[in-house]
Amino acid sequence: MEKRQQWGSRYGFIMAAVGSAVGLGNIWRFPAVAYENGGGAFFLPYLFAILTAGIPILIMEFTIGHKYRGSAPLSLFRINKKAEWLGWWQLLISFVICTYYSVIIAWAVKYTIYSFGTQWGTDPGSFLFGDVLKLAEKPGQIGGLVPGIVVPLLFVWAVTFFVLYRGVSKGIEKLNKIFLPTLVVMFFIIVVRALTLDGAAQGLNAFFKPNWNMIFDGKVWIAAYGQIFFSLSIGFAIMLTYSSYLPKKSDINNNAFITAFANSGFELLAGIGVFAALGFMANQQGVAVDEVVSSGIGLAFVVFPSIINEFPGMNGFFGVLFFLSLVFAGMTSLISIVETFVAGIQEKFNVSRTKAVLTSGITATIISLLFATNGGLYFLDVVDYFINNFGVVTAGLVEVVLIAWFFKGLNGLQSHANAISDLRVGGWWKFCLSVVTPIILGYMMFDNIRQNLKENYEGYPTDLIMYGGLLVVVVSIVGGILLSLKGWKTNKNTEQKKEA
Ligand code: PHE
Ligand code: NA
Repeated sequence: MEKRQQWGSRYGFIMAAVGSAVGLGNIWRFPAVAYENGGGAFFLPYLFAILTAGIPILIMEFTIGHKYRGSAPLSLFRINKKAEWLGWWQLLISFVICTYYSVIIAWAVKYTIYSFGTQWGTDPGSFLFGDVLKLAEKPGQIGGLVPGIVVPLLFVWAVTFFVLYRGVSKGIEKLNKIFLPTLVVMFFIIVVRALTLDGAAQGLNAFFKPNWNMIFDGKVWIAAYGQIFFSLSIGFAIMLTYSSYLPKKSDINNNAFITAFANSGFELLAGIGVFAALGFMANQQGVAVDEVVSSGIGLAFVVFPSIINEFPGMNGFFGVLFFLSLVFAGMTSLISIVETFVAGIQEKFNVSRTKAVLTSGITATIISLLFATNGGLYFLDVVDYFINNFGVVTAGLVEVVLIAWFFKGLNGLQSHANAISDLRVGGWWKFCLSVVTPIILGYMMFDNIRQNLKENYEGYPTDLIMYGGLLVVVVSIVGGILLSLKGWKTNKNTEQKKEA
């Protein structure tokens, strides 16, 4: 057994945790979610979600990792043998996410190169779907591999392998210490530029204008919780894994607050930048901001290229800044996702880090090729929707319920966290985890199921939903249970309960 790795410094850990949290979701998800759910008024449910679920769960995951010093399956096993399966389930969710998250980063790599000379031309939409993705005509068709995507995808994986192979402090920490500050600087330059464009003020007005009526709508609160779960990377073992590499003396509670607020700060910055740019575009086209709002792949790879086309100068430069920001934000998140299962495999099967990186990494690479086919985008869309709305939310719900109610773990975690932290957590923390979060997540799950029984997501064909959505969710649960039935190859490791 290799000696357990550690972060080189507290700063390094925070960079890595924030690097995981700050991802594509901050840039392309948050602005539109906030806008559509009440604009300025959204900040109320959003803040509420951070305080009642985001930070409490972050503290819980940080504490579990720090106290039990293992990957999710091992740490949960040490809490209670019967909890191990949850860890594997979460690892399988991470595994699924990384297979398509890597593909989106590959597109961003391509677009960084296209930015030189704004090669997407005057119709970025048909350029993306036609020239770049070579999208199949109908959802559900697979077609063949698209070499133009496969090449950057293999590059993304090669970088990931290298960083993980180098290990926690020499690989992950080092990368984050370079990528995260660079990302902030690059993105800041874009935001400042966007704010000085004509129409920026209209965009910001649209973004911040509060629609107070909306906060009485349950949908808005669900959106706030959904954003926080995704954005903070909580509910599927990522933060737990990272905190298992903390030195024994580490201020857990403070780290959680810093991580959460740094992530929200970047989200707000992105909201301002994106809406200033959208205001500029609306102004150019003489339409209302409302008509140009978009999110996700469309925002990043269609709308932004159009905006960059219209820039009064240095178009290529701002293109590079924007897409490189996506690459950097994405890479630091991807690496955190892959590390969760690398750590689990390494411990369960008692293999070296290199072996764990190679076996699980190559498997993930092969599966990710499915999303680099002509039909890849449809699969990506379905898998992403289901894994986020059912996988992550359900695993998060099961996590809090198991720990708070079944294994009555909160008191032990509370005293562990408080013993090493300046800021103490108390009754509010336990109340949020055992009552508020389960009720809200339970409601979210119920509402999601109801929605999906009513109609197929995006009107996609039922078999695509079955294979891409349901099957993936079911397989990850069953797979998690099966993996937990296998014994640990590292006995010594499972016995030395709580070192700290
Ligand atoms: N938190 C990241 C974001 O906001 C997304 C992410 C998802 C990160 C899954 C890790 C794992 O984009
Ligand atoms: Na985020």
